[in-house]
Amino acid sequence: MDFQINEEQKMIQQAARDFAQIELFPGVIERDEQQAFPEEQVKKMGELGFLGMMVDPKYGGSGLDTLSYVLMMEELSKVDASSSVIVSVNNSLVCWGLETFGTEAQKEKYLRPLASGAKIGAFCLSEPEAGSDATSQKTTAIDKGDHYILNGTKNWITNGNSASVYLVIAQTHPEKGYKGINALIVEKGMPGFEIGPKENKLGIRGSDTHSLIFNDVKIPKENRIGEDGFGFKFAMKTLTGGRIGIAAQALGIAAGAYEMAKEYAQQRKAFGTEIANHQAIRFKLVDMHTQIEAARLLVYKAAKDKDDGNDYVASSAMAKLFASQVAMDTTIEAVQIFGGNGFVKEYHVERLMRDAKITQIYEGTSEIQKMVISREILRK
Ligand code: CAA
Repeated sequence: MDFQINEEQKMIQQAARDFAQIELFPGVIERDEQQAFPEEQVKKMGELGFLGMMVDPKYGGSGLDTLSYVLMMEELSKVDASSSVIVSVNNSLVCWGLETFGTEAQKEKYLRPLASGAKIGAFCLSEPEAGSDATSQKTTAIDKGDHYILNGTKNWITNGNSASVYLVIAQTHPEKGYKGINALIVEKGMPGFEIGPKENKLGIRGSDTHSLIFNDVKIPKENRIGEDGFGFKFAMKTLTGGRIGIAAQALGIAAGAYEMAKEYAQQRKAFGTEIANHQAIRFKLVDMHTQIEAARLLVYKAAKDKDDGNDYVASSAMAKLFASQVAMDTTIEAVQIFGGNGFVKEYHVERLMRDAKITQIYEGTSEIQKMVISREILRK
């Protein structure tokens, strides 16, 4: 397997690294404390092409491959996972879904502004009673001939208030189960569409997470994605790629914490020497480094599988499952290496530890990834 990064990919990686240091790092602690959305930074990421990385240039995207996207996600996430999830949802769940399954008219109207970052998108599957059990959709989209009437509530929606375009999954034919579900494009401001309260979260606090409420929202039929009843498959296929983005985010969180801990261990002294000279700390760094390398290989493999046209259902789930565990373990150890300072906000690692947790939950919990992987390996 060849994961050589080519010159263009190295440039993208460097551009993302520079952007993260120059634009995301200043103010990251304050944004976390205040739950402030990184509006200026998101605008600049749009200008750099980070919000439509894999979209065809004919729709205003950057036309890059998944590996480039993963490299960018990793670098942003080392510094600011709140910003990287905004980017991930827009790229993987919204742009990819629209470009792959949307009509030409939908692409012109919705994908183009999303790919350039002029607008931000949100992906709306989860509900108060449909998180992991995603087929149990209570939101309804009743067929009224030339339009649907949408009713229901969505939960934990990333970009909930900052988005302008929402891909909403809803049940049209309950008697058909998941085969009766549709995916609809909903615009902010449509009558009857309300943004619910903002969640007060443990981590990724700079991203805005809201519930959404739909009360008799009239959605034109031309806003349905794919054939009638394609909505659940649309969600699953889209999430399969989304999981690569979150795996890359987890990898970046782990690598960011490790790099800070390594640097700190070479400066901080205890018992007459830098703490990196103590075996207790050296072995922690070795374990972190090894786990991160292993996670990186799984994440790059999933990206390559997608780019090469291979099935990537299992590889994306394995990448997310493993990388998110590595993010959790590594950030906890990073806090431990920093000791008392690790518990203090200005040293950043406590934030990375809080941010890491969500990578084991969103876009399918670790338990759901195991369900997905088990089905794939037992079928083959
Ligand atoms: N690709 C294509 N089709 C898929 C698929 C995939 N990855 N996974 C399932 N399907 C298809 C199945 O083949 C089946 O279709 P057929 O009968 O035609 O074969 C259909 O979908 C139903 O699948 P299952 O019978 O497997 O359904 P299930 O209810 O047993 O389980 C599940 C499905 C995998 C558990 C699914 O519900 C799931 O992934 N749950 C987790 C949901 C999730 O990830 N939510 C994240 C919310 S979004 C988010 O977090 C974004 C954010 O803000 C950051």
